[in-house]
Amino acid sequence: MLDKLEALYKQFQEDVIKLHKVADVLNLKASLLGKKGALSEILKSLKDATAEQRKTIGVKSNQYKKEIEDLVQNQIKKIEIEEINSKLEKNKIDISLTDSVLEKGLQAAGLHPVSTIQREIEDIFLSMGFDVLDGPHIEDDYHNFEALNIPSDHPARDMQDTFWFKDKKHLLRTHTSTIQVRGMQGRKPPFQFVGPGKVFRNERTDATHEMCFHQLEGMMVGENITVSHLIYFMKTLLKEIFKKDFEIRLRPGFFPFVEPGFELDIRWKKPGKGESKHSGWLELLPCGMVHPNVLKAGGVDTDKYNGFAFGLGLDRLVMVKYGIDDLRHFHSGDLRFISQFKSY
Ligand code: PHE
Repeated sequence: MLDKLEALYKQFQEDVIKLHKVADVLNLKASLLGKKGALSEILKSLKDATAEQRKTIGVKSNQYKKEIEDLVQNQIKKIEIEEINSKLEKNKIDISLTDSVLEKGLQAAGLHPVSTIQREIEDIFLSMGFDVLDGPHIEDDYHNFEALNIPSDHPARDMQDTFWFKDKKHLLRTHTSTIQVRGMQGRKPPFQFVGPGKVFRNERTDATHEMCFHQLEGMMVGENITVSHLIYFMKTLLKEIFKKDFEIRLRPGFFPFVEPGFELDIRWKKPGKGESKHSGWLELLPCGMVHPNVLKAGGVDTDKYNGFAFGLGLDRLVMVKYGIDDLRHFHSGDLRFISQFKSY
């Protein structure tokens, strides 16, 4: 009986390593150790053996049982690794970019025109002594509204249709004016900074509206700041970008965080259309003198200091600069559009 046991084990050792499927390994194991398995049958027949035989065969069969279990586990592990390797082999991604790929049409990338104009404007303001600040896209009620003199029951909240998070406390910032609030913290007047970035509104998309667009906020705080300072910086900015003087006008505009508030318009010609009919004023730059409540929320002494702020629409500026008639091109991912603006 001992010989039979040994022969079974030897056979198992040879067979198991030839298997390449987990199910086959488990079947083979069952054919030995299962209820009706060969090894179990041997153990059953022990009832007719002598006490001595029972002891040696019992010990031996337990030892084989354990070794069979180990071999089964080893083989299963081996099969799993084989499977992973063959999957990796099949799904190989060639990450080497060869010249032939480039020849077939992939071209080196460039910056999006909005990024380009953002960098240009940052440089212009840096050269005039402004800092460039950043702020988070996900904001809280305080930084987006409350600290900007827009309490929760104020109808001005309706001017900016907002994406709220489920907690009703956080939102995607609707304007870069949040950077005014953050920028004032920890700064002592006089100071001046700009803050560019993405903003989000629940807008119906059309040729001039998107749910995600770009603004560049600006703020200057010091002693005896006036509207003429504001006009000077805005005109300088436009001249630097367009390399020509623009005729501008200020109209009254309402924003709770400025008083007085203005809309700054430029005179321009609509792209591709007849001169006289489509030329006109383009609303480009909401701005104004910072409301004392906003300065107070930022820890600024309003008896001594005041300031101006503006919120430039970067997308609109790009449209004016390049004569683009539809804002939806910007996020279209269409290479025919984007490849016209290569700059590195
Ligand atoms: N935050 C305003 C908006 O997005 C723009 C603005 C900025 C107006 C600064 C005045 C001063 O509509």
